[in-house]
Amino acid sequence: MNPLNLLKRWSWGSSPEEDVFDPKVHLNYVPPIKKFTMEELLLDSSTTTSPIAGTVPFPLLSAEGVRAYRRALFQKEVIENCASSPFPGTLVLRDAVKKSKFINDFWTHPDTMRFVSEAIGVPLEVVMPTEIGHTNIQVQGTTIAEMASNLRVEPTAETLELSPEDRAYDPLTDKSSIIPWHYDSYPYVCVLMLSETDGMIGGETYIKKGNGEAQKVEGPQLGHAVMLQGGEVCHLAARAKGVKERISTITSYRSKMPNVYDSSYITNVRPYADTASLYPEWAQYRLRKLRDELTYFLDEADKECDPAQERKDIHSLIDQQIDYLRRTSRQMVDPEYTQHILSKYGKPAYYDAPRIWKVVRNLPDFELLASVADAERRWKPESPYWMDLQKSIETIKFGKPVQSVLGTAVLNMSSRYYMGDELLRQGLNEVFLDWFGDSGLWEMYCKI
Ligand SMILES: [Fe+2]
Repeated sequence: MNPLNLLKRWSWGSSPEEDVFDPKVHLNYVPPIKKFTMEELLLDSSTTTSPIAGTVPFPLLSAEGVRAYRRALFQKEVIENCASSPFPGTLVLRDAVKKSKFINDFWTHPDTMRFVSEAIGVPLEVVMPTEIGHTNIQVQGTTIAEMASNLRVEPTAETLELSPEDRAYDPLTDKSSIIPWHYDSYPYVCVLMLSETDGMIGGETYIKKGNGEAQKVEGPQLGHAVMLQGGEVCHLAARAKGVKERISTITSYRSKMPNVYDSSYITNVRPYADTASLYPEWAQYRLRKLRDELTYFLDEADKECDPAQERKDIHSLIDQQIDYLRRTSRQMVDPEYTQHILSKYGKPAYYDAPRIWKVVRNLPDFELLASVADAERRWKPESPYWMDLQKSIETIKFGKPVQSVLGTAVLNMSSRYYMGDELLRQGLNEVFLDWFGDSGLWEMYCKI
């Protein structure tokens, strides 16, 4: 079954405000004139990832397509059901496909799917319906209603006066970059621009090259999109300045090909997404992928004549799928527990957890507190994370690669591996903060 058939259970009201998606009218695809390969960025590329790290912006929507998309987004039904505001001046719309047939039909149309797949060089599948068209809106206003009232179907070309500081803005040194260096939760991403960008500065993406230098990738203009292998390449999104509104909409993908490593996590979305729809979609897509992997294996196994090789292959498949299922399960953290930890330590600490851990690791009393915490196992003594920790320690000891939210790598054996490392490896930031607080390390961190 096509995962997007899931959408059929939603019934879209026939909204008079919404256009019917027509690829001939709304699409205007021109292939990207440049693709950055992993090789030219000096990044390791495995056989299980795309050799393309990202593309320059390319046209995807026509002018009519942009207007139709904006009209669909700004419907009362969508704003009322999908909007949240993490801070004044910013609106986030999620799950718009459940209220807008146009947005669903645009992203899932075979032509759109073919274009994004061609651009990044692998056949793609939307990771799950809840990740179609995650939309970030920067607009004037303090409340959702006020911000929504400032949105018009016609993109505004109005610019804002740039201060000398704005003009001197360097996203690589300025700490206010919109998202600091990071890996995405999903393997591939398409970012589509729905606002005018004339007069805007910033808004570009930087990819960290293998030699540590930053490769600039221009941000997309109105109706243009960029593709990025965001789960595999470390990148930074620069803040955009000088425009009155900025609307970008993002869809995340994974490879459709069997036997290709799926680096997805839901760490970044867990704190704010509606887990009542996120978790079932996550579980279904993961189980479907498992089923596809098993079907592919069984088909291929018929061709293998060497029994020794056959046995090796089956062991390897089972090991991989055990890891895959374990991650599928571990990522679905009890939402009440997540919210409890967020209210105790704050949302910034959740997203900042890897950096906090790095800082704390260099403090004089770190070794003592972390070692005692792990040796005594007072924190959640019966939790399966202790088994996960042991497994990772063994894997590292034998120099085997470890999969983590930061990609797959062979970890350095020179420093000890603690529960904090294990929980962050798994992208379980709230569980990490819980362990961190219990070990006394949070208190030590707060003192500095
Ligand atoms: Fe990203």
